[in-house]
Amino acid sequence: MPLILSINDASISRAVALLRAGRLVAFPTETVYGLGADATNGQAVAAIYAAKGRPTFNPLIIHVAETHALDNLIEWNDTARLFAAAFWPGPMTLILPRIADAPVSLLASAGLETLAVRIPSHPAAQELLRAVALPIAAPSANASGKLSPTTPEHVAESLGDAVDLILAAGRSQVGVESTVVNLTSAIPTILRPGGVTQEQLERVLGRKVAVFEASDDSAPPSPGMLSSHYAPHIPVRLNAETVSDNEAFLAFGPDLIKGGVARLNLSVQGDLNEAAANLFAMLHELDKPTYAAIAIAPIPQIGLGLAINDRLRRAAWR
Ligand code: TXA
Ligand code: MG
Repeated sequence: MPLILSINDASISRAVALLRAGRLVAFPTETVYGLGADATNGQAVAAIYAAKGRPTFNPLIIHVAETHALDNLIEWNDTARLFAAAFWPGPMTLILPRIADAPVSLLASAGLETLAVRIPSHPAAQELLRAVALPIAAPSANASGKLSPTTPEHVAESLGDAVDLILAAGRSQVGVESTVVNLTSAIPTILRPGGVTQEQLERVLGRKVAVFEASDDSAPPSPGMLSSHYAPHIPVRLNAETVSDNEAFLAFGPDLIKGGVARLNLSVQGDLNEAAANLFAMLHELDKPTYAAIAIAPIPQIGLGLAINDRLRRAAWR
């Protein structure tokens, strides 16, 4: 069983030390418990995906204690200022353009040019985020496919020893996740309903917001509205056994294949956690129009390899 501690100065200090060391800490928010990691540390973010056992890299929400902590992460706009003033701290997440050199691992936003950000109101979350003074990536603290956890016991049952510490503060008040609002589209669009309602958003904005209907297959989202997948601009070739002179090569493990105009290695040691942490940054780096393609070495289909291969298949499909 993971360590479960109630909230006090000692447990907050312990949580801060673990987070700064790249470990995972579950913490209470007003919506559901979150599984937190240092968002600036790619390997810590990779550990979140491994702990949840998700076969895909879904982008994660970045949590901070106050609005000015977002200034070096996202580009503010008028609607974001308005919603932030009205609903933060609270159960709302905003999708905004990511600042190019934002100190957040590309894995946390699954390679996207946007970032999901939130300021939770729960006093324990506030205390932790202030004390750690780092942006914290945190999905709901449940194993993939399981219900979102609203008690520390749910977290322990779902994640077990995959989490290093659970900060316990009883039942989550709101009990449903935050409302995810995309502010990078022409009209503010609710991507996931949650603790702040459409009516509340519209009252503050003074006009309609759109709601993205994920179930409506007959009307695919307009391009760009849900740019939920990052893909390089040049072709991607998977399971490469050879590399041509005009291709870039992305290796994994010992470098046995020669050739290529440029080369990077996801993990010389063949460590899937390290490979996940490097994946998006290295794809970006090799995505140059002068290269014919990115050839990618085979990645074992185990552990985080499932999510890496899922993402590579999407990147290769065009
Ligand atoms: O209440 C909550 O939001 C909780 C607590 C812990 O804060 N967190 C949570 O995280 O529910 P998660 O990872 O389970 O859900 C994040 C949602 C997903 O639907 C994801 O697709 C969306 O936010 N999301 C994250 N980044 C995004 C982005 N850049 N663009 C579009 N959607 C994004
Ligand atoms: Mg979730």
